[in-house]
Amino acid sequence: MQAQYIENLQKAYKSLRQHTDFCPEVLLVLGSGLGKFAESIDKVGEVSYKDIEGMPISTVAGHEGKFVFGYIGGVKVVVMQGRVHYYEGYSSQDCVMPVRLMGMAGAKVMFVTNAAGGIKYPEIGALMRITDHISLVPSPLIGPNWERLGKRFPDMTKPYDEQLGKIVDDTAKQLGINLGTGVYIQFSGPSYETASEVRMAQIMGADAVGMSTAIEVIAARHMGIRVVGISCITNPACGITSMSLDNVDEGEAVERTGGKLQQLIFESIKKIKEVL
Ligand code: HPA
Repeated sequence: MQAQYIENLQKAYKSLRQHTDFCPEVLLVLGSGLGKFAESIDKVGEVSYKDIEGMPISTVAGHEGKFVFGYIGGVKVVVMQGRVHYYEGYSSQDCVMPVRLMGMAGAKVMFVTNAAGGIKYPEIGALMRITDHISLVPSPLIGPNWERLGKRFPDMTKPYDEQLGKIVDDTAKQLGINLGTGVYIQFSGPSYETASEVRMAQIMGADAVGMSTAIEVIAARHMGIRVVGISCITNPACGITSMSLDNVDEGEAVERTGGKLQQLIFESIKKIKEVL
């Protein structure tokens, strides 16, 4: 982390604190098409990224770019509605700034969701709990380390928390929701992968492909934040079926899960409180 970056982060934190004194326990990161879940929490306030000094602003349609603060079943949460992506031209460091900010604000758990292309589960609307990841973009930890956040060489043996993962798996079972498990791979995008790249990803051990998440998880683990993640499959990854990726519709995937993903996330968060 360059001195300038650390200064920006500190400035952003100070700026955030001028808007709210809320200390979230859980950070919920909503992927493409999932932002409207934020409307269902018991909201106590919100802060737009644009009102926080030094925050990177998302340029993607459907990514609102704000923190929504509130409660899910008595758990203090912040919903990160809209994230910034590497393909927008931001550095990995800038992409993870909202995660770092919420870690500084108190978040102990990050519940991350994303839209992804399916390899192991190609059906639109399938849900996959992320058990591990492969990152093909530069690490957000590159540069001088800021010890206040974490150590120079953080362990990545189990970036996705097994105890929290089990809570989510059990909750899915209780709710009758089909939830697979698998490895997520982050490509840079913004073009979708070629069929050969998907084949490569498959050989490397990936089960779903996307353009986010891994770097945010690295930043979260660096800070000691426990992570649980779910991919919502919006399309079969390129080459898995003959389907073209010209018109991937995130809305359709969310519709097909029929509110199940939101139910799964909300019910899991209520139970996560017991292990915080
Ligand atoms: N590839 C990468 N990112 C994605 C995909 C995909 O097939 N679907 C949704 N996000």
